[in-house]
Amino acid sequence: MIEIIRVKDYETMSLYAARLVAAQVRLVPDSVLGLATGSTPLGMYRELVRQHREEGLDFSQVTTINLDEYCGLPGTHEQSYRYYMDSNFFSKINIDPDLTFIPDGMTTDIDACCEMYDELIDFLGGTDIQVLGVGENGHIAFNEPHDYCFTAQTHKAELTENTIEVNSRFFDDPAETPHFAISMGMRGIMSSKCILMLISGARKADAVYGLLRGEVTPRCPVSILQLHPNVKLIVTDDAFVKIKD
Ligand code: F6R
Repeated sequence: MIEIIRVKDYETMSLYAARLVAAQVRLVPDSVLGLATGSTPLGMYRELVRQHREEGLDFSQVTTINLDEYCGLPGTHEQSYRYYMDSNFFSKINIDPDLTFIPDGMTTDIDACCEMYDELIDFLGGTDIQVLGVGENGHIAFNEPHDYCFTAQTHKAELTENTIEVNSRFFDDPAETPHFAISMGMRGIMSSKCILMLISGARKADAVYGLLRGEVTPRCPVSILQLHPNVKLIVTDDAFVKIKD
């Protein structure tokens, strides 16, 4: 079941998203939050930091699990997702760093790392809220489009050319953009009690169509959310243009 919250712009989307996450943390102080990186949730993190600083929003008991990490980048690399999370969010709130989990992009044993990540998700009982962005090609986390199957487990994902090209905008030398990532699989995402899907910008209009009107198919990974009982989609008007009722 997908509840659609249409908003006029990115700022409004970010504000709504932050309010929902903040409400979760206020109601259940030891919540488990599933978090995403990328440009989409930056405004949400900014607002959550503001609420922490100005309204005392308390993260001291919160646990976080991130969706993914690039293979081959250490947490000190400015484009690693660990660095993104530390600099944009964790260092600005009162979270316990030991309770922030992100796959280790430098692991020498990817299979064991993926297995441990799934065990961690199970141990924590899944996330209370999973924040998601979507790729232009419909990927969620780095579950890329595939001809015939969704991947359930955390896994090493080969990024598509489109994803590499889109993500290269963040790298000084675009050729340095990693081609592989460790990504949470669909089981970890779908086991969340509530999915908070954030989509803004005209370039995401096809993904919104796939999410709301397309068939459920691994060719458009985000379409799997049609099978989740509790999805809140916060979507800007410019991303909603292909939906006609
Ligand atoms: C990030 C992630 C990706 C992004 C997606 C959209 O942790 O899992 O799936 O959510 O690539 O990225 P942006 O928000 O930069 O458009």
